[in-house]
Amino acid sequence: MGRLIGIDLGTTNSCVSIMQDDTPIVIPNSEGSRTTPSMVSITEAGERLVGQLAKRAHVANPKHTIFAVKRLMGRKFLDADVQKMAKSSPYDIVGGGNGDACVRIRNKEMSATEVSSIILETLKKVAEEYLGEAVTDAVITVPAYFDDAQRQATRDAGKIAGLEVQRIVNEPTAAALAYGVQNEGKDEVIAVYDLGGGTFDISILEISMGMFQVRATNGDTFLGGEDFDVRLVDFLRDQFKEQTGIDLAGDNMALQRIKEAAEKAKMELSAVKETDINLPFLAVNNNGPQHLVTTITRKEFEDLTRDLVERTLEPCRAALTDASLTTKEIDHVLLVGGQTRMPLVQSMVSDFFGLKPYKGINPDEVVAMGACIQGGIIEGSVEDILLLDVVPLSIGVETAGGIFARIINKNTPIPTRKGMVFTTAVDNQPFVNIRVCQGEREMVEDNKVLATFQLQGIPPAPRGLPQIEVSFEVDANGILSCSARDLGTGREQRVQVTPNYGLTEEDIERIQTESQLFADEDRQKREIAELRNKAETLIYTTERAIEEYSDILEEGEIAEIKADLVWCKGKVDSTDVEALRDAVMRLETSAHLFSEVLYRDFLDKEE
Ligand SMILES: Nc1ncnc2c1ncn2[C@@H]1O[C@H](COP(=O)(O)OP(=O)(O)OP(=O)(O)O)[C@@H](O)[C@H]1O
Ligand SMILES: [Mg+2]
Repeated sequence: MGRLIGIDLGTTNSCVSIMQDDTPIVIPNSEGSRTTPSMVSITEAGERLVGQLAKRAHVANPKHTIFAVKRLMGRKFLDADVQKMAKSSPYDIVGGGNGDACVRIRNKEMSATEVSSIILETLKKVAEEYLGEAVTDAVITVPAYFDDAQRQATRDAGKIAGLEVQRIVNEPTAAALAYGVQNEGKDEVIAVYDLGGGTFDISILEISMGMFQVRATNGDTFLGGEDFDVRLVDFLRDQFKEQTGIDLAGDNMALQRIKEAAEKAKMELSAVKETDINLPFLAVNNNGPQHLVTTITRKEFEDLTRDLVERTLEPCRAALTDASLTTKEIDHVLLVGGQTRMPLVQSMVSDFFGLKPYKGINPDEVVAMGACIQGGIIEGSVEDILLLDVVPLSIGVETAGGIFARIINKNTPIPTRKGMVFTTAVDNQPFVNIRVCQGEREMVEDNKVLATFQLQGIPPAPRGLPQIEVSFEVDANGILSCSARDLGTGREQRVQVTPNYGLTEEDIERIQTESQLFADEDRQKREIAELRNKAETLIYTTERAIEEYSDILEEGEIAEIKADLVWCKGKVDSTDVEALRDAVMRLETSAHLFSEVLYRDFLDKEE
């Protein structure tokens, strides 16, 4: 195994960490920031900008800058949440070949997985630059409430980024791990309340003698800071319309400016009671340019978003019930995720648990730190810690009448394996179709259909006679796989799986090749830039040498250098690496005559 990193792939911000001398440390990116915006922008020239650079490009280029792509991972375009997001999104969200939610950027369709892989690749590079060595492996975190399709999409993104994904870990579990290690694993029961940019998770864990056992988890994978921003954006838009009569719908640039101002105001309101929003020249009407100038109070903002905070409490109740615990039995509440800095969130959570939240962790970094601790556990460098996580959502199959039959219940510790016996419905039926679903609703149509299985090659037999046992296995990543056995013959039964979501192996390979092309292109661009610098310096020094020392060389030699100089000047703007390298070499060789003679004269004098 090569060098391993821990990655918190967030909706808004991502963070990368490594183990250094048994301690998790966060690696700052090339701009010195400890987190990197999860944004990707593609310029007109096709160049990929990631992180802070993409964020900067956002206002000028909203249509080609992707943010919050995590919300699209492992989802269909027709998913209600995706539809809602697509309506207000400045960039295009479309349905891909198999109906998966994709983005369209510069007329090219990209899966959410591919966009995420670009972010992961950047974080990999951040770590490689810091370490000065190649990174090969990673532990990547996901919201605890992510289902199988969303986990697979994340793992595939890591694969495309050239990472061996050693483990997918739940974000609140990772946070608990970092907290527990820091507190030397005192025995206690903790609740991790994680409200980030796009998702909400609540996990309840028992920590006892180095064992971290998740008792229950719950959440909402479509509830986070983004939704708080949207509330304020809508409010400001309405206010602007009232004052000026201008509807900003479709004016992407103006909406983007409002969004940025709204997020900034939201953050300020976590520290102060009121803040000003000032956006000059937002739009134009018959009366000339119109500005958005207003003041928002904390109270107003709280009224706009209280129901969103309330929505987090229902999953908290459900998790407590599933863990058979009351709030009184919780020793600590950890707040994770940037949105928990909002005072209303803190007070509502304190009221709910009857406990002041624990303050000793950094809500932006603790998840990535937990991820690399988990990496250390896998590598064996971190000892005496055992992590037992759970299946977040029940897994089962469709039975007659579209009813969902649970096979593995939510909150079952993982890894786990459970079998179910299937048979045929008609005589001599050669195959059986099985639909595998995940969710908590009673009907299949209300849950997520993960895959369709076909058990094939069943020997001719009267209906109901064949006994085929299918085992459903959920690994430590929370990812499902299936295998089947004919109980009659004891033989392994062929299972053909048609996943309902995600990329095929071929897709992954194709994208990998493409991103390799990008990497090659990037390398080429850098080489050209370096050669160009070298050429320019060489041209300058040679011209100066000709001016000052032309008398030390023969006329013929000077003529030759001048010819090479002209040649090199002609090639300095070329994008042909070979031609440029050749021109630099030619001039370098002939201009060396100067130094040879000067050096010889100098040595002669010394003697
Ligand atoms: N001081 C603050 N007050 C209120 N909200 C804040 C503050 N600082 C950051 N946020 C919000 O926190 C969110 C980002 O949090 P975080 O970086 O934890 O999310 P993430 O890890 O990217 O997302 P997720 O975990 O949901 O995938 C953003 O919506 C941001 O506006
Ligand atoms: Mg997060």
